[in-house]
Amino acid sequence: MLAGWLLVTWGLQPQSAAVGLACQALSGVLLSAWLRLPIWWWAINAVFPVALHGAVALHWSPLVFLGAFLVLTLIYWTTFSTRVPLYASGPAVWRLMARCLPPQSGARVVDLGSGLGGLALHLAHQPGAPAVLGLELAPLPWLLSCWRARWRRSACRFRRQDYRCHDLSSYDLVLAYLSPAAMPTLWQQLVSQLKPGACFISCEFAVPDQAAVALPGSGQDGVPPLYVWRMGTDGVLAAGLGPDLTAVFLETLPCS
Ligand SMILES: C[S@@+](CC[C@H](N)C(=O)[O-])C[C@H]1O[C@@H](n2cnc3c(N)ncnc32)[C@H](O)[C@@H]1O
Repeated sequence: MLAGWLLVTWGLQPQSAAVGLACQALSGVLLSAWLRLPIWWWAINAVFPVALHGAVALHWSPLVFLGAFLVLTLIYWTTFSTRVPLYASGPAVWRLMARCLPPQSGARVVDLGSGLGGLALHLAHQPGAPAVLGLELAPLPWLLSCWRARWRRSACRFRRQDYRCHDLSSYDLVLAYLSPAAMPTLWQQLVSQLKPGACFISCEFAVPDQAAVALPGSGQDGVPPLYVWRMGTDGVLAAGLGPDLTAVFLETLPCS
């Protein structure tokens, strides 16, 4: 945009669209470098004018673009402020998480940012599963999760709510697959709300400046690390499996 405006202002009409686009792409890269943006933003800013030109050349109805914009908005919703986009964990993660389910009757589990609901639904389908709740902020993933739960006649529940406004004090296991940006604030919430004995498992993302222990079997063969913390009776949220989970994973723990 800036390059185009400058060229026109200075009376330097580009010889062809290709030259104009090349100037746009170059100025995008230069601005990215000047603003010290991460390297992937350089690529996005270089390709964007070309993609825009290509999209205009398709002569599609503006309603197509409006529709795409609305769908993406309903999927990504407040990602610009939470800095947690939608991406789903896979069955390998679900199986490891299922081994950490609290065994006692009446136990409660919550997935913070449940996305499309795959993890929460898998856990709720385990034999003797506790009550599982998925909290999701984005409308479309939340709606799809509700439909999936209804379709599968699952006892799993999904609520459209910001987990930062949800009291976590009644849960025995709290799960999260969020982003590095979300972890410091979430940690403060967990420290102030988790009850003694409750566990917190974070898929892939550790908490800055906090010791972390990954579940055996995670962090290898394409499975992201699953970091575990447990709230002690002394009110300290400490890295580690705790006695119950240690027993579950004993056979895979290295002998010391
Ligand atoms: C990486 S996805 C994880 C999906 C799911 N837990 C899984 O394992 O497949 C993170 C989800 O968290 C949601 N999210 C981000 N911030 C949130 C918040 N403050 N409250 C509720 N959901 C949030 C996003 O909309 C996104 O769908």
